Amino acid sequence: MKIILGPASTELGEKIAELTNLEKVPVAHRTFPDGESYVRLEGNVQNEHVVMVQTTSTAQDTRLMQLMFMANAAKRNGAKKVTAIVPYLAYARQDKIFLQGENISIETVAAMLHAAGVDALVTVNIHAENALKKFPFPAKTLSAIPLLAEYFVQKGYKKAFALAPDKGAMYIAQQAQSVLGGEAGHLDKQRDRHTGQTTQTGKGLNVKGQTVIIFDDIISTGGTIVGAAKILRELGAARIFTACVHPLLIGDAEKRILDAGIEEIVGTDSVPSHVSKVSLAPLIAKALKAQKSG
Ligand code: R5P
Repeated sequence: MKIILGPASTELGEKIAELTNLEKVPVAHRTFPDGESYVRLEGNVQNEHVVMVQTTSTAQDTRLMQLMFMANAAKRNGAKKVTAIVPYLAYARQDKIFLQGENISIETVAAMLHAAGVDALVTVNIHAENALKKFPFPAKTLSAIPLLAEYFVQKGYKKAFALAPDKGAMYIAQQAQSVLGGEAGHLDKQRDRHTGQTTQTGKGLNVKGQTVIIFDDIISTGGTIVGAAKILRELGAARIFTACVHPLLIGDAEKRILDAGIEEIVGTDSVPSHVSKVSLAPLIAKALKAQKSG
């Protein structure tokens, strides 16, 4: 097995290589003046099972094209199996038809990856596991929530209240709770599918005087976390933190979250930034080691 260091996740790829002792295949890449992507594998992949580490956040379409080009290059150069490790999987949130006339974006992405030569996919905290069913090859998701919760244990917040911003994310709060050892609960969130506007409520939640950590898979515009913080303050929470796997933090999201009274934002290197205080490397390395020995 060899590891291809995708341009979007070079640092994470290096860390995984170190933990797994996998031989690295660097990737030369550039963008043509018209915006098109170019990649070239700088190593031998003949007869190898290669794993390509490439997140698809930020410049999603470019990152996806690079991923597909790497897969094609690997197969053309004799790789016998290509596994894509895609910590943040772009388009996974459109995993079904919400309004008539839409497409299922993740289904198209899956078909394109398959056509390019990808044989298996590993992602992290995909928004809905339903999206994995759209892949014509084995696709699985890992959870980084225990690692995020452990970060807070290390900082001395054992027994903090683990909060999910909506019912669908309650499994996330429960995973965090099993590490933190305190209580867990969720807010309720409704989204208007036409305007995208959301409303949140915190009925029946008792967080008075507690340290609360809001756990989510993604922080995008920050609207969900800002809304949750407002409710938590009204309910008398003593201190509020937030953690997510994929800190997209679009525009002024970080400022809005901190202005809302949240003390710290903690993310992973799924989306590399200064809030990426937790690395996915140990989680992914463990999964690869299990695959190698399995
Ligand atoms: C949606 O249900 C997700 O789990 C996140 O809560 C959502 O994507 C966050 O988006 P934003 O930060 O824009 O509120």
